[in-house]
Order: sequence, then structure tokens, then C-alpha cells
Amino acid sequence: MPFDMEKRGIEERLIVALDVKNSDEALELIAKLEGQASYVKVGMELLYGTGYARNEKLKSMGLHIFLDVKMHDIPTTVGKASAQLTRLGVDMFNLHIAGGIHMMEEARNQMGKVLISGQQRPRLIGVTQLTSTDDRMLQEEIGIATTVADTVIRYARLAKQAGLDGVVSSPMEVQGIKQACGKDFLTVTPGIRLAGGDVHDQKRITTPKQAIEIGSDYLVIGRAVTQADNPAEVFASIVGSLL
Ligand code: C5P
Repeated sequence: MPFDMEKRGIEERLIVALDVKNSDEALELIAKLEGQASYVKVGMELLYGTGYARNEKLKSMGLHIFLDVKMHDIPTTVGKASAQLTRLGVDMFNLHIAGGIHMMEEARNQMGKVLISGQQRPRLIGVTQLTSTDDRMLQEEIGIATTVADTVIRYARLAKQAGLDGVVSSPMEVQGIKQACGKDFLTVTPGIRLAGGDVHDQKRITTPKQAIEIGSDYLVIGRAVTQADNPAEVFASIVGSLL
């Protein structure tokens, strides 16, 4: 079990994706979960819709925050942006490993410079291949002559080398990542679907139970819960399936 997992209950490993337009809708969604959510993901839709300041309420409610900004730019820009995100006091944020080692190292270095005493450094997570990508898309559309599975492992090794805390991947790649980078290297896995549920635009998916059994540290759960008729009931049944 990775270093920051040991003390946590299973629900703290379930990150609810707040893929909504504004902070009012985000708060409504949290209310619908009836106090069960403890980790939430603020993605680009919500961030660009209302700005981070409007989401500070989430932090004051005691929720852990994963800022899903997927940065990919030149090292200086990503480094400076990483310093700003560290100042916000979020718990986790991410960047695209495709930006390269220098970009990732710059992010890591700049974060270290602005940490204030007593602040826990946000987990810095690298995006490997989006869970909406499959081999056909990689090879025929993008023109990269390798498999998603191979690219993910290659990216994970680069992220580890650059000092990142872990990666975003499909649960299907977790075992290979742990073998390549060690069990303490965190895996954050979207692409979570309930058995028989709608797959939407995701391609490399598993159920919550499969993801935990495979060894995912954090599960990002979006539409399976947020678009359910009764999100609280679905969330509770997922937690129940994992105990
Ligand atoms: O609704 P669903 O469960 O598919 O939501 C998955 C969430 O995880 C979305 O917010 C999406 O942006 C995010 N994500 C992903 N694949 C990645 C990284 C993030 O699906 N590789």
C-alpha cells in the first residue's frame, strides 16, 4: 500500500469528478451525495466556468481537491503555473507527461520553492494516455506506431524519473506501472464504469471493484455516479462493493 493510503478509508480513494458548469451545480452535486464525497476533482469545465476562487468553498467544506488541469506547455510556463497551483493549497494536480522530463522537473522544482511551512506539497500527477484513447486511434489517427499499453509504461517511467508522485492511467495499466515504478508510485484511474452501465466516450474501462483489486490507489468516478438518478445510492453501493 502506498505511503499516503494506509490511514485512509476506501471512500477517500474515490474521487468524484465535478464535471459541471459552475460552482452552484458543483455544490448541488455534492449535496446529492449526502456527505459521502471526501475527494473531488475540479476539471477544466468547472474551472473555466467559474474560476478557482468560486470553488474555494469546496476546500472550506473539508473536501480534498484534485485540480485536473492537464498542463502541457514549455517548461518555464508549466513551472510558473505549478507554483501558482501550489499556492492555492489544492491536494493534487496534473500535467501531461508528453511535455517531457524537463517540463515535469521544472514543475516539481517550482512547487518546492513556494511551499509554506506546514503545507503538504500537492501530489503531482502525470497524465499517460487518456482513457478515451485506444490502439487504433494512437496508430491510425495520431501516427504513433506503438500500443497504448507500451506508451503508458514508457510515460510512467519518465514521470517517476522526473520526481512525480504518480500517474493517471486506465486501471488496466496499473499492474504494469507498479511493476515498472514501484508500489508507492501512485495510480489515479478514470475509466470507471458500473457493470452493464453506459461506457460513454471511454474505451479502457473497469468496474470500481476490479480497479481496486488491480491496485489502483485513487479511482476517478464521473458520470457513473454524477448522472445517476440517485447519486448517493450509487456512491454508497460502490463503497459497499469495495468493503
Ligand atoms: O464521466 P467519467 O467517469 O468518464 O469521467 C472521467 C473524468 O476523468 C473526466 O472528468 C475526465 O476529464 C477525466 N479523465 C479521464 N481520463 C484521463 C484523465 C482524466 O477520463 N486520462
